[in-house]
Formats: sequence, C-alpha cells, structure tokens
Amino acid sequence: MKILATFDLPEEYAKRYENQYHTQVSICKDRAQLPDALRDADILIVSWRLPAGSVASTSSLKWIHSIGAGVDGILTPDVLESKAIITSSSGIHREPISEHVLAFMLSFVRSFHIFARQQMRKEWKRYELQELAGKTLGIIGLGEIGSEIAIKAKALGMRVIAVKRTSGEKPTSVDQLWMQDRLKDLLGDSDFVVLSLPLTPETRGFIGEPELRAMKKSAYLINISRGKIVHEAKLIQAIREGWIAGAGLDVFEEEPLPEKSELWQMPNVIITPHVAGSNPQYTARAMAIFEENLQRFLNGKPLTNLVDKKLGY
Ligand code: OXD
Repeated sequence: MKILATFDLPEEYAKRYENQYHTQVSICKDRAQLPDALRDADILIVSWRLPAGSVASTSSLKWIHSIGAGVDGILTPDVLESKAIITSSSGIHREPISEHVLAFMLSFVRSFHIFARQQMRKEWKRYELQELAGKTLGIIGLGEIGSEIAIKAKALGMRVIAVKRTSGEKPTSVDQLWMQDRLKDLLGDSDFVVLSLPLTPETRGFIGEPELRAMKKSAYLINISRGKIVHEAKLIQAIREGWIAGAGLDVFEEEPLPEKSELWQMPNVIITPHVAGSNPQYTARAMAIFEENLQRFLNGKPLTNLVDKKLGY
C-alpha cells in the first residue's frame, strides 16, 4: 500500500505508518512531479491545496485525506471525477478557531486594537468600553466550529442565534436556531456576525451588499472560514461608508492579503494571516484522524470524516 504526502510529513508518522501498517510512505512537494508520483499511490495526504490536473484518470488513488478542515482547495475537477474517496480533518479546529473568534470579539468590545496602536505612539487616552455580556452573536453555519463558538459565547453571557443549511436539534448553547432562509433576520439582530461555513459553489460570494446592508451599523463581521465567502470589495465599502462598524478577518479573497488592500489601513479592522486554526497540536490532531481512518481503510471498514463531493464539504 503506497501513501504519498504533499508536505513535510514528520518522520515519526511516516515510520509508524510503514512499520505498524506495512505501508510505503513517500513525500512529493513538487507540483510538477505530482501527477507522476500519484500514478501508483493508493493514499494521498494533502495539505490545503492540490493543483488541478494532479490526479490522472489512470491513477490508482483510492483515498485522499486533507490535513485541513476546508477541502475547497483540493476538490479540483479531476479529483471530483476520480473514484477516490475524500476525508478531511474537520473537528480539529474547534478549540483554536473558537478562541480566535472570542479574541476578535473581546478585542473590539475592549478596544484592544485601538490601544495596541496607541501603545506604539506611547499615547495615554481613555475611552468608555463595551462588554460582550448581553450582546447578540449571530453564527452562520453551526458545524464543529460554529457549535464550539456558541458554547464559549454563551459562557460569556452572550445571546446566541444561528442559521444553518439543514434542520436539526437546537443545542442548549444556542438561543434561537433558524434555517438559512432567515439569514436576514440574523443579520439585522446581531452585534457580531461570524461566518463558520465551508466554501462551496453555493457559499461563494454569500455575503455581499444586501447582506452587509442588512447588518446593524454598530455590528462587526468576523470571518474565519474562507475569504471568497465574502464579496471583499463590498466589505471594504461597507466599513468605509459605515454600513457596519468593522471586521475581524483571518481569511481573504487573495492570500497573502495584497499590500495594496485598503483593509490594512482601516482602524476598525483586525487582520490575522489565516492562523485561526494554528496550535501546537495541529499535526498530532490531524494525523490522529488519518491514522484512525488508515486502520479502518486497511480493515475494509467505512471511514470517518468523509467529504461529500457533491456538497463540497
Ligand atoms: C482549514 C483551515 O481549512 O485552517 O483547515 O483553513
């Protein structure tokens, strides 16, 4: 059984898969070499992106595992057409990303983004600050990450409302759960709107002018999902013209965020460089999902964390 990784899979993992599961592990980080390297691989472990055309129709590939939660960067036409099943590392981001969202919200209510700039200028200027308790958080997408954000926000005394694509039971941490057709209600009712949904053909450009105009002027948009879910030019206009108060952004239409982007200069925007999921246990958590599935795969059992190629997550 041949396993190929497209990133520097630490040696301890490669050795374990070889010794314990009698596989053959190799690494190919060169995009140009990938189609050849993949021709006789059975399993591919991939980081965020897979160049289109990597999986030839003759490929023997049976399974692709993404060490990221979002698989928008690997669902290329050739992967979609291939017979390979796909699994993701969905679930490993609950703690770091929910904490990142809290950090954005706490920074805005306690003005840390303003005080950080003042500190650079050695400026002592005091303001009346806000508190999160009692504010309404609107979560769009109540999967693993959205659910954990709800739990933490609730613990801080926030009112939590959420919309999701499919119906389901309302968790106790959520005060009101609606279907997506009530998106506008959520937008108009929230002090913070968090996007925690995957990038799919359906969610590309999901937040544009009508949605931004439906938000309160005092509200903040927080995006820890994918930049392309938001129409970025409209977001910039919304912040510049005061349709909304500001934004906490970890993801962008183009990454790294181009130097010329107006977002860099906006005082009511907090930018982090797509690091919301970062934590010291990242590799261990992602590879634990892979290893559990490797055992299942070798024993002919159904895999966990399966991606639906049609839905895109
Ligand atoms: C992911 C991410 O999809 O961190 O895993 O963006």
